[in-house]
This record gives sequence, C-alpha cells and structure tokens, in this order.
Amino acid sequence: MIQVEGLTKRFGQVTAADAVQFTVERGDAFGFIGPNGAGKTTTIRMLATLLKPDAGTASINGYDIAEDPRGVRGSVGYMPDFFGVYDDMKVWEYLDFFAAAYRVPANKRPALIRDVLELTDLSDKRDEYVDALSRGMKQRLCLAKTIVHDPEVLLLDEPASGLDPRARIEIRELLQELCGMGKTILISSHILPELADLCNKIGIIEQGRLLMVGSVDEIWEQLEGGKQLVIRVRDRLQEACDFLAARPDIASVEIEEDAVHALYDGQPDQEHKVLKALVVAGFEVSSFVEQETDLESLYMRLTKGLVS
Ligand SMILES: Nc1ncnc2c1ncn2[C@@H]1O[C@H](COP(=O)(O)OP(=O)(O)OP(=O)(O)O)[C@@H](O)[C@H]1O
Ligand SMILES: [Mg+2]
Repeated sequence: MIQVEGLTKRFGQVTAADAVQFTVERGDAFGFIGPNGAGKTTTIRMLATLLKPDAGTASINGYDIAEDPRGVRGSVGYMPDFFGVYDDMKVWEYLDFFAAAYRVPANKRPALIRDVLELTDLSDKRDEYVDALSRGMKQRLCLAKTIVHDPEVLLLDEPASGLDPRARIEIRELLQELCGMGKTILISSHILPELADLCNKIGIIEQGRLLMVGSVDEIWEQLEGGKQLVIRVRDRLQEACDFLAARPDIASVEIEEDAVHALYDGQPDQEHKVLKALVVAGFEVSSFVEQETDLESLYMRLTKGLVS
C-alpha cells in the first residue's frame, strides 16, 4: 500500500531524509519512531505530496507521489503535526468544508459528518465553535477531518502529542478501530509505548536514516547486545558490581538504585553461570531477574541521541 524507495530530502547542509526505504502492506499499522529532528515529518510530508523529494520515489495505493499526486491525495488522509483550525467555524462546518474540498457530494455530507463525529466521540460538540474546543478535542476533530473522505491510507504525524494520558489512550483506541476497519496507517511518534500496542511494524529513524524496520520481535532479534539482568545482593553492592564487570560474558554493568544492572552477552541460556559465580564468590543474592525488554529500552539502545 505504501512503497518508499530511496526517498531523500536535503535542507542546505542537513539531510533530513537519507534514502529512506520501507513498505507498508494493506491493513498494516506502521509506527515511525525517532527523536526530534530525525526526519519523520519530512518523510511524511513527502508521502503526502506536500514536499518534493530530491531523490527517490514512493507510491501510495499504486499512485506515484511525483507522477500522480492527485491520486495520492485521494487515497490518503494526512494529519499534520501542527494544524490550524479556523476561528469562526463550527465543528460541523469545519468537517463539511473538508468533505466539500474532497468533493464529497453535498447530499452525502450530513450523514458522513454524523458518522465521523460519532467515531471520534465529538457528536455533542457538533454545533460548538472550533476554537472553543480543548486541545484534545481539536486533535480528535483534526483526525475526523483526516478521515472524512474515507481514505485508504492514514498518514498521521504525532496525532497524540500534547494530550493527557486518557486522551492518548482514546486516540489509540480510535486508531485501533480504524485499523480494524481495514485502513492502512502510518503513524509517527517519539513515545514508544503509545505505538507498541497499535503497530504491527516499526521503523526507527535517526538523522534521516532508517536504522531498522520490522516487527517489534524482529527488531529485537536483529539487535545484538544480549539481556539485561537485574541483580540484587544483600550487601557489598559495589563489590558485586566489580565482580560482574570482570566477567567476559558481561558487557557492561551499572548500579541503579539498589541493584546491579548487568548486560549479559554470553552464550544464550547460560545466564545461570553468572548467578552461580556470584553465589560461589560468597555474595548473598536476593534476586536475579532478566529485565523485561520493552520497546522503550530497545529504542534507547538503538538511537544514541545523536540528534538531540
Ligand atoms: N523547511 C525546512 N527548512 C530547513 N530545514 C528543515 C525544514 N524542515 C525540516 N528541516 C530539518 O530537517 C531535519 C528533520 O526535521 P523533521 O521535522 O523531519 O524531524 P522530525 O523527526 O519530524 O522531528 P520532531 O520529532 O521534532 O517532529 C531537522 O534537522 C530540521 O531542522
Ligand atoms: Mg515532526
């Protein structure tokens, strides 16, 4: 549904997107993750045909972004990272305006607007002025206008930024619902847990380069570096730390709060040897666990903060 090949954009000295390449299948939810300035917005704007690439191509729903931008625009709903809402418009007028812009016939618009308002949980705001809505409501309204022409592909640039935790969850649920309706979604964020539940595919971008693409599990497999062990001892914490640091199967250690965090990169399934060595050396180990590896720590390992 989305095919990106070598997409490149330069702004002066900065290469905002550097030969970005990935594909998104129909029905996929693709999470585009990276720190500030990584090139997410630039890439999405090129896909939305709002920015011309310096090199590379992309097609959406079979339409080439350079050769057939109209076809692309008809197929995508684009939600920008910053959006303006018009002052003197009511919620329904705002949606009516965008539906008209997408050439939805006038007699079909009222039912359509009712549907998207219901989907985005804004039905009771129908007759309010847009600028009187709270930020979270504006965000949902923007999402409503993004889907008003029933596009097959949604390009969403940080749709949940600036929202409170509840509103974030609501947006996520809404996106899950849209996914269930068969939409293909590309969503950017730098907040990982937000995407973990929603996306079946993740692309990590930094300094314009796509570092990795795949499912969360695949990305894990591609990663080297082993398992994070969290070890607690009754006393002699620093000594335990030094003891572990000297082992060849421990890549790094640090003390965090009252535990030693040790990165194990020895043979798989041989972590027990670390525990045994500690016990034999007389350390009173009170707990020895493998840290749950979540998307967050994966991300921290992958992106070294080169940009920020
Ligand atoms: N119009 C522009 N003119 C000059 N430089 C730009 C322009 N747009 C983006 N850039 C530069 O391109 C790089 C990528 O920016 P981009 O907005 O794509 O990042 P992002 O991943 O969306 O970041 P954020 O998480 O902060 O939204 C940055 O270094 C930025 O300064
Ligand atoms: Mg951005």
